[in-house]
Amino acid sequence: DLGPYRHFMQKEIYEQPRAVADTLEAALDGDFSIDQLWGKGAAERLQEIDRVLLLASGTSHYASLVGRQWIESIAGIPAAAELGHEYRYRESIPDPRQLIVTLSQSGETLDTYEALRHAQTLGHLHTLSICNVAESAIPRASALRFLTRAGPEIGVASTKAFTTQLVALYLLALSLGVLRGRVDATALHTHREALRQLPGSLQQALNLEPQIQLWANRFADKEHALFLGRGLHYPIALEGALKLKEISYIHAEAYPAGELKHGPLALVDRQMPVVVIAANDQLFEKVAANMQEVHARGGQLYVFTDLDSHYEGGEGVHVIRLPRHAGLLSPVLHAIPVQLLAYHAALVKGTDVDRPRNLAKAVTVE
Ligand code: F6R
Repeated sequence: DLGPYRHFMQKEIYEQPRAVADTLEAALDGDFSIDQLWGKGAAERLQEIDRVLLLASGTSHYASLVGRQWIESIAGIPAAAELGHEYRYRESIPDPRQLIVTLSQSGETLDTYEALRHAQTLGHLHTLSICNVAESAIPRASALRFLTRAGPEIGVASTKAFTTQLVALYLLALSLGVLRGRVDATALHTHREALRQLPGSLQQALNLEPQIQLWANRFADKEHALFLGRGLHYPIALEGALKLKEISYIHAEAYPAGELKHGPLALVDRQMPVVVIAANDQLFEKVAANMQEVHARGGQLYVFTDLDSHYEGGEGVHVIRLPRHAGLLSPVLHAIPVQLLAYHAALVKGTDVDRPRNLAKAVTVE
């Protein structure tokens, strides 16, 4: 049932404040019990971990690219993220103290499932899945599991599954941090208060839709676009480019903004729209310098920043401001505008938003 929405994708974008609140419920009520969050025996098992490997595909992989940074910065544990289909076919060095985390909306993605089986045949016993479908293959094959509570995701392009995976990964970083003694009671309280603010801030990000719709009108006749971000927001640039490709069929590529002058800057001319995720974090000045490089070559800048960066942009630069910068949780909020941009670009182009050509919702073949 679509209710007041035109497409499932639009409905699912708008469900995100609720989906994130539901996913956080068990972690924000009560006393942050690790076993309650991740399953029986979790505290004991996670205590033994000294490395993390996140395996996934597509949008779920982009969530893990954020998650690995949180795990390192919050829990102080080395973490890597890899595409399941790459991991599965290369020679890797198993480590019994490594936690293998699989992320999947459907729980049925063959590439991810087979990567998990591969890890198990290498001897990995510590496996954890973050999944949106309880009765599915990947959580069933994992020692520990966390169910995101996004609810059924019908649109082929993943939206609410992504943001709920992100908060699940944040909870994983917190859990590992607590077990290692790196996150004390005061810090845990601060993190949980920040998480409590998230659904309200997501709602504020959704309120930017009319401005984003205006941008989308300018986008629809483009053939190419670049997406830039740095640090925690580079995966959001990747996600924005993937969403745009998938549903509007506009060719889009994402780069870490620092990589521009190592090649992609050659693509920038007056025809090239460049979307920048310029959150007000410690990398903002670096990103601003990269935006200047684009501006100087006549590139059309579309900048998502936060109100408190006070970024003005100057002549010909389009700027949309999210509310106050949300610190480590900022990528969750910056996911919303890139989803809306892709959605509205697709509407202008008249594509089949919920069922883009050539794609399936759950990829159960190799
Ligand atoms: C993109 C998208 C895909 C999936 C990928 C993994 O919008 O939906 O890239 O994220 O196929 O699917 P799951 O998460 O079900 O394993």
